[in-house]
Amino acid sequence: MILVTGATGSTGGHLVSQLKARGSAFKALVRDRGKGDALGAPYAVGDFADPASLAAAMAGVDRVFLASPGAQGYLVDGEQPMIRWERNVIDAAKAAGVRHVVKLSVWNARIGGPMSEGGHGAVEAYLKESGLEWTMLQPGGYMQNFLRPETSLGDEDGNLIGPEGDARVAFVDCFDIAAVAAELLTGDTGRNNSYVITGPEAVTYTEIAAKLSEGRGRPVGFRGEPARVIADRLRGYGLDSQLADDLAGQYASLGAGVYEEVTDVVERFTGRKPRDFDAFMAANPQAYPALASSAR
Ligand SMILES: NC(=O)c1ccc[n+]([C@@H]2O[C@H](COP(=O)([O-])OP(=O)(O)OC[C@H]3O[C@@H](n4cnc5c(N)ncnc54)[C@H](OP(=O)(O)O)[C@@H]3O)[C@@H](O)[C@H]2O)c1
Repeated sequence: MILVTGATGSTGGHLVSQLKARGSAFKALVRDRGKGDALGAPYAVGDFADPASLAAAMAGVDRVFLASPGAQGYLVDGEQPMIRWERNVIDAAKAAGVRHVVKLSVWNARIGGPMSEGGHGAVEAYLKESGLEWTMLQPGGYMQNFLRPETSLGDEDGNLIGPEGDARVAFVDCFDIAAVAAELLTGDTGRNNSYVITGPEAVTYTEIAAKLSEGRGRPVGFRGEPARVIADRLRGYGLDSQLADDLAGQYASLGAGVYEEVTDVVERFTGRKPRDFDAFMAANPQAYPALASSAR
C-alpha cells in the first residue's frame, strides 16, 4: 500500500489520478475530510506537524511519496518547517516498517544551500541516513509555475517577468514527475538513486511568452529583470525577505543557464517523452482557453 503525501498538490494530484487509473493500492494523506472526499480516493486525515496523525496514516503502508510545500520563508525554533515536517514523515515511515520513500526534492538540493535547496538537502541527508530505501526526484522549474500568479511573475498588463539573460530552462510538467513517481512506487527500480527530472526541451522565457500569447489569446511580452529588482518585487508581494533574496538568486541561476540541461529520466521510466510546453498548455484549458479546442 502506497501513502501519497501532498496529495492535493501540483504533483501529488496527478499521482493520485495516475495510481487510481492503474488500480494500485494507495491512500492519500489530506488535512481534512473535505479534501479527502473531493479526491474521490481512499485517504487518511493527517498533518505533517502532527506525528501521531502520521503514525496512524502509515497503517498498512510500505511505500511513501513524500511531497510538502517546500520552503515557506520562515523559521520555527530556528528551522524551516518543511525540514521538520518531512523528518516527521520519515520517522513515522521508519517506525511503521515502510520499505521505500520517494521524495520530491529539487535540482541542486544541498546542505547549506539557499532556503529551498538547503531545506531539501537537509531532508535528503536525513532520509539517506534513515536506513529506508529512497529515491530523490529532483526537478528544476515546474511548468505549473505558469498557472499560478505567485510562482510566475508578471506585470499589471499580464506580461511575463523573468531573469535577465533569457537562457534556456528545461521546465517540466508535474504530470511527468508524477508518472516517474508512479513507476517507482509500483515497481522495484530506482532505489537509492537521485534523478534530475526535466521536460523534453529547454525553452527561453521569450519563447514561453510567445506560447502564453497563443494560449491566452492576447499578446504577452517578456521583460528580464536583475535579481535585486526581482527580490524587491517578491518582498512587495509580502514574501519573507530571506526567501525573496533566495528566489531572486534562483531566477538569476535560471537566466544564467544553470537549469538548461535536458535529461531522459521521464522517458527511461515511462517509455514515452515528457510533455512539452504546448502539450502542458493544451492539458490546462482553464488557463489557456485559446487552445481549448486543441486539448490533447
Ligand atoms: N515550483 C517549482 O518550480 C519547484 C521546482 C522543483 C521542486 N519543487 C518542490 O516541489 C514541492 C512542492 O510540490 P508541489 O508543487 O507538487 O506541491 P504543492 O502544489 O505546493 O502542494 C503542497 C501539498 O502539501 C500539502 N500540505 C501543506 N501543508 C501541509 C501540512 N502541514 N500537512 C500535510 N500536508 C500539507 C498541501 O495540502 P493542502 O491542500 O491541505 O494545502 C498540498 O497537497 C516543494 O518541495 C518544492 O520545493 C518546486
